[in-house]
Amino acid sequence: MPALGVDVVLSPGIERAVPTDGVVTLRIPEERDVDSLVSACSDADIIRFTRVPTPYRRTDAEAFIRQSREGSERGDAFAFVIAAAVTDDLAGTILLGNQGRGVGEVGYWVRKEDRGLGYASAATRLLAKWGIEALALARVELHAFPENVASQRVAEKAGFQREGLLRSYREIRNERRDLVVFSLIAADIRG
Ligand SMILES: CC(C)(COP(=O)(O)OP(=O)(O)OC[C@H]1O[C@@H](n2cnc3c(N)ncnc32)[C@H](O)[C@@H]1OP(=O)(O)O)[C@@H](O)C(=O)NCCC(=O)NCCS
Repeated sequence: MPALGVDVVLSPGIERAVPTDGVVTLRIPEERDVDSLVSACSDADIIRFTRVPTPYRRTDAEAFIRQSREGSERGDAFAFVIAAAVTDDLAGTILLGNQGRGVGEVGYWVRKEDRGLGYASAATRLLAKWGIEALALARVELHAFPENVASQRVAEKAGFQREGLLRSYREIRNERRDLVVFSLIAADIRG
């Protein structure tokens, strides 16, 4: 597996990964993230390619923080802030949902100002690996719209394999859409 080009450190108690030449931290979303969440989620690409509420209000950010806590307590959805470890400031978010039957799904966004620094790929690789190792998932899926080239590149950089097109797979913004499916399976991280 090629180096991701950044250090990745999960929150204490979760996992530590190998340093390279930068730093990303995955940490639990907190009240102090509300302003950054609100300002990031007005970005056109985040609205276009994710299911964040729009317009995104403080109450949406507060609900995200609360639901993150509840999801990890239930054990079916693990949401993290992707932060630059030097500042600990929010650069994006990433979610691993446990879909049952050994399958997880990862989704993410990075705020416009922090794109192109390798944050999404590093966070995706680390969280998928954690899902396979700590949650005993057999397979982590990543779904991207066919026109979302950056997200497909993130999948490849994180070590996922492209499997094909899921036709009319999900409704987003009132439209039924095709999605490209990628996966990382347990054998990929062992091999
Ligand atoms: C997709 C997204 C998360 C990428 O975050 P990021 O931190 O910039 O990702 P990385 O830096 O890890 O990698 C991005 C890669 O995509 C490439 N890329 C970015 N925009 C691109 C474009 N328009 N066409 C082709 N490649 C592109 C970058 O060059 C980089 O690849 P490289 O390192 O080989 O040069 C970010 O653009 C985003 O938040 N978009 C809106 C929300 C979204 O699409 N979420 C995913 C839903 S599936």
